[in-house]
Amino acid sequence: MRHEITVRVNGVSETHTVADNQTLVSFLRDTLDLTGAKEGCNEGECGACVVLVDQKAVNSCLMLAVEADGHEVTTIEGLGRPDQLHPLQAALLHHSAVQCGYCTPGMILTAAALLHQNPSPTEADIRAALAGNLCRCTGYRQIIDAVIEASSHVRANATTEPRMPRRLQ
Ligand code: FES
Ligand code: FES
Repeated sequence: MRHEITVRVNGVSETHTVADNQTLVSFLRDTLDLTGAKEGCNEGECGACVVLVDQKAVNSCLMLAVEADGHEVTTIEGLGRPDQLHPLQAALLHHSAVQCGYCTPGMILTAAALLHQNPSPTEADIRAALAGNLCRCTGYRQIIDAVIEASSHVRANATTEPRMPRRLQ
């Protein structure tokens, strides 16, 4: 069966007809061509597919596109832009916390949800929030340090709200 859904993605209203079994990650990647969210395990174990739904971190491989109808979705494409990185993006670069980059969009969006809820997280808070995001490359230390650094910037002058239309030009 197919359903028409309207989802606000990175500030843009998107209306599409989707199959009732299409996942949100498939809708983002295959229908909207937003490939920042990665399909890793496809069973909720790796966090590579995390996006924000109404500012909460969600494994988009476990959510159906129809469940996103009427909601606000933010992907990594909507969080910052090349000339104005989100503080989390800038901090991950500063700490060399990106290697292959496969985990990075999910890691950043999970951290963004954390900072939205708690702008002053402890290291334990950050580790707990990122427990569902696996990274095969960095060993996590640099990622944790980057989130700590970004939290001070977010507190000072930044926002975790989307800042740009969803498609980078
Ligand atoms: S692809 Fe969704 S949690 Fe791994
Ligand atoms: S940077 Fe390679 S999986 Fe995290």
